[in-house]
This record gives sequence, C-alpha cells and structure tokens, in this order.
Amino acid sequence: MKIKRILKWGTRAVLLALILAFLVGFIAYWRSTNECDRKTAPVNPMKAIVHCEYGGPEVLTLVDVEKPAPADNQVLVKVRAASVNPLDLTIRGPLLLRPMFGMRKPKDTRLGVDYAGTVEAVGKNVTQFKPGDEVFGGKNGAIAEYVCVLADRSVVLKPANMTFEQAASVPVAAITALQGLRDKGKIRAGQKVLINGASGGVGTFAVQIAKSFGAEVTGVCSTRNVDLVRSIGADRVIDYTKEDFTNGAQRYDLIYDLIGNHSFSERRRILNPNGICVMAGVGGAGWHDGMGMRLVGELNAYVRSRFVHEKFLAYIAEFNKKDMMVLADLMQGGKLTPVIDKTYKLSETPEALRYLETGHARGKVVINVEQDNKN
Ligand SMILES: NC(=O)c1ccc[n+]([C@@H]2O[C@H](COP(=O)([O-])OP(=O)(O)OC[C@H]3O[C@@H](n4cnc5c(N)ncnc54)[C@H](OP(=O)(O)O)[C@@H]3O)[C@@H](O)[C@H]2O)c1
Repeated sequence: MKIKRILKWGTRAVLLALILAFLVGFIAYWRSTNECDRKTAPVNPMKAIVHCEYGGPEVLTLVDVEKPAPADNQVLVKVRAASVNPLDLTIRGPLLLRPMFGMRKPKDTRLGVDYAGTVEAVGKNVTQFKPGDEVFGGKNGAIAEYVCVLADRSVVLKPANMTFEQAASVPVAAITALQGLRDKGKIRAGQKVLINGASGGVGTFAVQIAKSFGAEVTGVCSTRNVDLVRSIGADRVIDYTKEDFTNGAQRYDLIYDLIGNHSFSERRRILNPNGICVMAGVGGAGWHDGMGMRLVGELNAYVRSRFVHEKFLAYIAEFNKKDMMVLADLMQGGKLTPVIDKTYKLSETPEALRYLETGHARGKVVINVEQDNKN
C-alpha cells in the first residue's frame, strides 16, 4: 500500500515538474525580445551590423544604432577594420545555446568581436590611452563604426608595422592558438608539434606561434594550401587529401587539433609517451557533415585519456590584456604576420560570413569598415 502511494505521488510530482518546466520554457520563449522590438530612432547614429532574428547570414542588416559614449573607465574606438570568426555563426541560434543567448530572438543583436581602430575619446579615469592612439582588441558588437571598451581589458596598442586589417584579424584566433599551445599544450623549444587544420584562421597563427616557441612544426592541410602553410614557417606539411597523418612513423610531443577527425586511438598512437593532444575545434567554421560525430569523438577521447599517460584536453580561449600584449610583441618582432584570405566591406558582412561558413577559409576573413564610409 505504502509503495503504491509513493509511486502515485512520485508520478504526480514528476508530471507537475514537467508541466512547470514546459510553462517556464514557453513563457521564456515568448517573452524573449531584443532592442529591434523597441523601435527608437538613434539620437547620435552610427552604422552597425545587427541581426534581429536567428538565422543564416541573410538575417544580417546594416542599420543605424546609437553611437556609444565612453564611461569614465572606457575608450571610444573608431573601428577601421574587424574580422569574423566561427563564433559569429552563433547567429544561427543553436538550440543548446538559446537559454543563454535568448530563446526566440537573440538578446544581443550585434555581431563580431575582433576589431582594430583609432581611439576617438577616452573617459576621465583613463590614463593608458589618448585620442589618436591606434589600438586593437576584442569586444562584442565589433562589426560597427564604433565600439566602447574598458581600458583595462583586452585592448592594446597596435604594432606600427601592422595594418588595421592585419591587427583586426588577430584577437580571437591568435589568442586561441596562444592559449592552446602554451597553456594547455605546455609547448617547449625543440618539441615536435603537429597542427591539424593549419591553413585556417586559428591554424595559420598556431603554426607561427609554435615556431616562435622554437618547436619543430608539422602542418596538416589540403593540396591547395601546402605552399601557404610552408610559407608561414611549417617545417613539414602533410596534405590530408594524400596522406593520413596518423598512419605515418613520426611521433609528436604535442598535437594541436582544430579538426577532430581522428579517433582517440589513432592520435594516441602518434603521440610520444606523456604527449598532449589539445582538442581546440571540430573543423572549419560552419556545420558540416560528420561534425556531430566529431564532437562525440572528442568527448570520448577526453574521458579515455583520463586512464592513460597521454593527455587529451579541450578548452575555450579567454581574452586578457597580458596575452594581447604577447601577441602584439610577436607581431612587432616579425614573428607573427596574419594571413588574410579575403577582405569585405562593412555592408558585405553577410557575404563574409557566408564565405567563412564554407569551412575552407585560408587564414582570416576581414571586414574593412572604412571602405563603406568612403563610398
Ligand atoms: N577552443 C576555442 O576557444 C576556439 C576558438 C576559436 C575557434 N575554435 C574552433 O577551431 C576550429 C577552427 O577555427 P578557425 O577559425 O581556424 O576556422 P576556419 O578558419 O573556418 O578553418 C578553415 C580551415 O580548416 C581547414 N580544414 C577543413 N577541414 C579540414 C581537414 N579535414 N583537415 C585539415 N584541415 C581542414 C580548411 O582547410 P582546407 O580548405 O584545406 O580543407 C581551412 O583552411 C573551429 O572548429 C572553431 O570552432 C575554437
């Protein structure tokens, strides 16, 4: 009798919880709104790329929004160039991320993170920067004519030997490569390092950063990118259309993997004892066939590596000023030169994202914000 009663009340409690969860989800979905719904005309307008709805690059529009004004600890930057990253494709609103980004509509309608530009004004507490300084950094909503950024965050002076377009291509991709190789991969001089996905946005920085640490670098890419990967410093290049790098005799101390298209056992076999595999991504930008399986494979590799000497690690890169300065120094010293594949105008941002989404960019895809202003 007692068990029956427990089962009856237990079932009712589960049902009630499910109905409540459904109601909360339903309300959250329909209450989900964004600034596009509050149709107020900007008092002090600037151009910016926005997406009022979730969807592909076609939902992006170039519109007038309110130009930001710097707070006491902020810097107002006139953006001269920006760049796009796989991260920007979250405009498609993947279901798993919607509780964070907005259920029905994106909470944040602005696009982009990477920028380079000129300081136009500074808040009264800012001492590190002055109007006219050329800077670069990372800030949400960077694909616009202006951004306001906290002076003590990830904004640093642009090396004089770099153009705005080059500097704008650096932040997300290069910080990802730096933190993956240095912090996760514990890269050291003389080590044998393999970079899978060496010709993309992150990969072209990873090859150069690994070389700057004194490593012996092997890059993996397709036939058309072999010369490019060699030209940025790779000691050896493997064309994945002709050779499977996991079948070779070569052993590596570190695998920096941006593609994740090989199993745990295949990669472990080519690692030296106690070697490290840093799992940074699952292929070029965009969603491609087999990516779901790659994600499952990376999770499997992470779990299985807990029981062996070789480490398989994953991570999400994070901005900080110190690392931005490391990158600026590498550029200044000629050890890091961004590879720019294509440059688009601000109004052509949808095309830029469409191109990135093919997953076969060669280096970085850049937006020249100034070009639209000149026309
Ligand atoms: N962990 C993090 O914090 C973090 C941060 C940024 C990015 N990521 C991830 O890192 C990955 C790479 O990002 P990205 O910005 O470099 O993307 P991307 O610029 O779109 O990468 C494009 C490159 O991937 C190469 N590629 C595609 N399939 C390949 C394969 N089977 N083998 C070798 N290379 C292949 C392409 O070369 P071919 O044309 O020759 O095929 C192309 O040059 C993405 O999955 C991204 O989500 C992670």
